[in-house]
Amino acid sequence: MKRFSKIIGTGGYLPETVRTNEEISQHVDTSDSWIYERTGIRSRHIAAENETSTSMAEIAARQAIDAAQIEAGEIDLIIVATGTPDRVYPSTACLLQQRLDIQNCVSFDIQAACSGAIFALSIADQYIKNGAADKVLVVGSEICSRLVDWSDRGTCILFGDGAGAILLDSADEEGILSTHIHSDGEYEDLLYCPNPQVATEENKDEAGFINMRGNEVFKMAVNTLGRIVDETLAANGMEKTEIDWLVPHQANTRIIAATARKLKMSMDQVIVTLENQGNTSSASVLLALNEGVRDGRIQRGQVVLLEAFGAGFTWGSALIKY
Ligand code: UT7
Repeated sequence: MKRFSKIIGTGGYLPETVRTNEEISQHVDTSDSWIYERTGIRSRHIAAENETSTSMAEIAARQAIDAAQIEAGEIDLIIVATGTPDRVYPSTACLLQQRLDIQNCVSFDIQAACSGAIFALSIADQYIKNGAADKVLVVGSEICSRLVDWSDRGTCILFGDGAGAILLDSADEEGILSTHIHSDGEYEDLLYCPNPQVATEENKDEAGFINMRGNEVFKMAVNTLGRIVDETLAANGMEKTEIDWLVPHQANTRIIAATARKLKMSMDQVIVTLENQGNTSSASVLLALNEGVRDGRIQRGQVVLLEAFGAGFTWGSALIKY
């Protein structure tokens, strides 16, 4: 019998502290109206000093486990997507495994910047489809606020902190229909964050901070996401009209609107969370999916397209029958 990966639970966590555009505009030369018009963002959540990617991942993961009505010990594989791991090693996934008190499962991190959740989902789907795992926990958790140069108005307006999680299980009915992931390392200079621990004399001044040529990234994102929509539909022999929901990476409403236009979808069919969350990198798609599921917009049996684009460049999509 053919095996599929089915979503059986979702979860999410956003830190309590909210930083508004107004607050940012007191420190850099910008304004609420500029930020909102150009990005769609009004505020973002900022992790408290004692919070980490692992602590946020744990809260989101426990929610997904509760929603799935399983025991944590049933999980075979944990994949955490993060660009802000607590430690160089052990991986955030291993730290999460410890917190969830799971003795016997495999845990590892993946790093694909803002596309991390889609990459993790794609890997999870392969493990389930080929029979190597049944229950897989996928988490995206990010403390972007600690990578942001708060004096750089080109980036500090964009990012926020949070964690999203989903639990997948093997099933004999359709769930994940297909995943598509891509990378092109040619574009390193447009969006990068040097690791301060291994900085060289040459890059030590910019180490630890997000560095982005925003407008160039913007154009690449719009074009690339347009192409991945075509690729995903063609792989499934589907028409645009068959997609019920678009759950995009939350980088900029203008990028999201361009993808929706390409799909001839109204914005009412798009889960948009960035107004109050900003760009939470690898957490964003999972947080948006969790929101759409929990508020009842996304219903069982509906077709949902997830997509993301990020540093690398990396990009990808997942088509799901929820
Ligand atoms: O998630 C990973 C992928 N990341 C993204 O997808 C981000 C993609 N990029 C973007 O979202 C947009 O490019 C930004 C929101 C970052 C910038 O918007 P833009 O429309 O591309 O603006 P721009 O960079 O072309 O800058 C236009 C003007 C410039 O001024 P001049 O040179 O025209 O005088 C900037 O200096 O806007 C200025 N500017 C700002 N003004 C007020 C840039 N940032 C700000 C700011 N407030 N925060």
